[in-house]
Amino acid sequence: MKVNVLAPTEVKPERAHLVVVIDDEDLGQESSSLNLFSPELRAALLDRLKSVEFKPGKQGVYRIDPIRSDAPSSILFAGWKDEKDRYFKTAAFRKVGSKVATFATQTKAKEVVVVTGRADLSVPEHLEAFLEGIYLTAYRFDQFKISSDNTPFPLEEVLLVGPQSVPDVRPIETLCQATLSARNLVNLPPNLCSPAHVVERCRSVAERGKLELSVFDREKLAEMEAELLLAVSKGSEQEPYLVKLVKKASEPKLKVALVGKGVTFDSGGLSIKTAQGMEEMKSDLAGAAAVLSVFEALEERELAIEVRGYLPLTENMISGKATRPGDIIKAMNGKTVEILNTDAEGRLILADALHLAVKDGADLIIDLATLTGAVVVALGGQYAAVYGDHDEYVQKLVEAGVRSGERLWRMPLAREYKDLLKSKTADLKNVGGRHGGSITAALFLQEFVGDTPWLHLDIAGTAFESTDREHLRHGGTGFGVRTLVRFLEGLS
Ligand code: BES
Ligand code: ZN
Ligand code: ZN
Repeated sequence: MKVNVLAPTEVKPERAHLVVVIDDEDLGQESSSLNLFSPELRAALLDRLKSVEFKPGKQGVYRIDPIRSDAPSSILFAGWKDEKDRYFKTAAFRKVGSKVATFATQTKAKEVVVVTGRADLSVPEHLEAFLEGIYLTAYRFDQFKISSDNTPFPLEEVLLVGPQSVPDVRPIETLCQATLSARNLVNLPPNLCSPAHVVERCRSVAERGKLELSVFDREKLAEMEAELLLAVSKGSEQEPYLVKLVKKASEPKLKVALVGKGVTFDSGGLSIKTAQGMEEMKSDLAGAAAVLSVFEALEERELAIEVRGYLPLTENMISGKATRPGDIIKAMNGKTVEILNTDAEGRLILADALHLAVKDGADLIIDLATLTGAVVVALGGQYAAVYGDHDEYVQKLVEAGVRSGERLWRMPLAREYKDLLKSKTADLKNVGGRHGGSITAALFLQEFVGDTPWLHLDIAGTAFESTDREHLRHGGTGFGVRTLVRFLEGLS
């Protein structure tokens, strides 16, 4: 998709498809968007707007069909109300972009002209959000729908009216592509998306991005004493792996480790889930998928920091060999863990991966994990929890999320609750009870990061959508990719 600019004088109502972002003032005499049209056409448009119940200042997108022979075949009006809050302001641009994509799909438009008046698309953050809305809404996962209409997304060109120069959209395009590739990995059915498959994906990303790659297999993991990861994998026929990726920088200011939970399917193990509880559990590698996609986005970006990725990959299944509730296993850092619930497997595999990141000398560790159902109860489907003791890092991450339309809410690493993880027979148990479940999961992870600055994201509520919503489609959302890349760019 190309993005070009058009001078206001070049806007002709005969253009096939036109999107007008309009605010209440635009409806007056001094209108800034509608005055691009001839007086009669403007009058006709205003008249038509009434019929679609357009209300000045009310956000919404309205499609109106051709008015006269010299009018565009369709016009999409986006009602606009200027928002003070930075999140909602940026999100409004993303929403309009999303509507443009839906509209293009419906009308098979190859080109849209976007007239925005006072809604300023020359602000980079606004344009990025608008384009994200288009790219991310255009996504479809239909490779297994043999009988579906898989015509490609029709839009070839977006013409912006207003900005003086053609913006460089390559960075936002690669960022969106990376987000979509994370969605692809999450959406891939678990019979195909095995740990070994993810390893193959890591290999190709490493090759393209000239990354250092280490793949630790079962034998190597045993040598490294990654017993918690091995314990989780015991019930599965699939081989577990731990992948490490490194993107070097010359004279790095900082070494940042990204750790992603990579459970390719979570049945719960012997502490088995309900049938319904298992339905979306192919999404349990969303953290690992996001981390891998960050490296994809970094392919065309030079940062002054070294970025390392750690992906513990396994299935959580059942067999006569599966780990039992009550088993005690020694973690890589030497602490013993009583596994009382085999469904709390994410924290186990992360514990070993986090410890490895610490041992490798990271200056900052960030982990992403679809870790607890409790975070969904606490924050719902649109906010992920962020934990961390370093205020500045937390704040920067939350800000990067605001810019990306990915909401983060800080939750406490409550020392008061540490006792809930005390085991009668080992150093720790892997569950802390029903109350504050996302917090006790975070406290468990904290036992494995030592003094290294660390941020933990519980993305169980935000990694997967059950229906299409705004720029998100049913399935994996790619949550975290854009936020992390922007956060890393901010550190660099
Ligand atoms: N993968 C799940 C968490 C999850 C739940 C992700 C819903 C996405 C949607 C995780 O491994 C899990 O099962 N956690 C348990 C922990 C409990 C046993 C302490 C949970 O949340 O029920
Ligand atoms: Zn689980
Ligand atoms: Zn899980």
